[in-house]
Amino acid sequence: MTEKDFIPKEYSAEIEEGKVTWQSPSNIALVKYWGKKENQVPANPSISFTLDSCRTTTTLSFQKKENAEGFDFELFFEGEKKESFRPKIQKFFERIEVYLPFLKEYRFKVETSNSFPHSSGIASSASGMSALALCLMSLEKQLDPEMNSEYFTRKASFLARLGSGSACRSIEGGLVNWGEHQNIPGTSDLYGIKYSHEVHENFRNYQDTILLVDKGEKQVSSTLGHDLMNGHPYAERRFQQAHENLDLLKGIFESGDLSEFIKVVESEALTLHAMMMTSQPYFLLMKPNTLEIINKVFDFRARTGMHLCFTLDAGANVHLLYPEKEKKETLEFIKSEMLQFCENGQYIADNVGSGAKQLA
Ligand code: DP6
Repeated sequence: MTEKDFIPKEYSAEIEEGKVTWQSPSNIALVKYWGKKENQVPANPSISFTLDSCRTTTTLSFQKKENAEGFDFELFFEGEKKESFRPKIQKFFERIEVYLPFLKEYRFKVETSNSFPHSSGIASSASGMSALALCLMSLEKQLDPEMNSEYFTRKASFLARLGSGSACRSIEGGLVNWGEHQNIPGTSDLYGIKYSHEVHENFRNYQDTILLVDKGEKQVSSTLGHDLMNGHPYAERRFQQAHENLDLLKGIFESGDLSEFIKVVESEALTLHAMMMTSQPYFLLMKPNTLEIINKVFDFRARTGMHLCFTLDAGANVHLLYPEKEKKETLEFIKSEMLQFCENGQYIADNVGSGAKQLA
């Protein structure tokens, strides 16, 4: 599908007002998206596990207005009016207007809340933007009742991407690919698709315990972060490596080889941080406690032969990934040895989930 396929023809129905609610999860990338071109096109393909407990719930109320001049929306976060979200949503609406030409015809109220702790440093743009994209798609579906569910899902991911790249991987559950890869048919730079090849049962219900090492504001916004890959001395080789790592993961998902899985996932996390450390300006986003945790992971694996591994986003928090069958011992270890490195001992126990859900 191309961008043009997402520009709608005449709508067959008229809708005066209404209200929809979607709950959308966060996701954790195994092969990282870091670097982008114009129009939110990723510089390399990525893949992520969709999470379950880390979710944003968004209710969109809409009412037809008399004129179609400008966007008209109000934003509420956890019950309170949130003016600081306005520029991001304004920009999002501008980007997607050509694909949702009704946007200026309605007055919107957007009410969102997160399941994860307030300002936990956990990325909320993926769950937030995907939930809003899904709400807007529900309105479009009312205007075009013939729309099929495949188109609905693709376009929701397409729109979410225009809000925040990683958000396009938060619509469907399990493993989601985003970005064209020659050996994974159906992959696109425009939207995420559910990984449709064989996946060994070792990866079923994979666990993700998120350790909140630093709950502060992000040091580097994702916009600036991605931008640092333009003219980065190692960029081209890195983008190529992401393709190679996706090839490796394809074999690993089939065979269930957890040791090989760990090698790819941890290397991806460290490469992401290496890119930030070697850009100009450079950033060091790990904290001493991030390293303490990583060393504990290495020790635990060497001592027990179990398959705990870590991954990181663009921050100091650590995602601990491990198979469900090793949950009991691993979680005990995490609780007794690792929570000391978290801010106020805070962590989130999550696992792979089944994707976004419509609540109303
Ligand atoms: C490090 O999706 O937040 O989490 O497209 O600018 O909104 P924007 O970026 P964003 O970048 C996420 C980067 C990452 C890696 C990943 O999730 O793949």
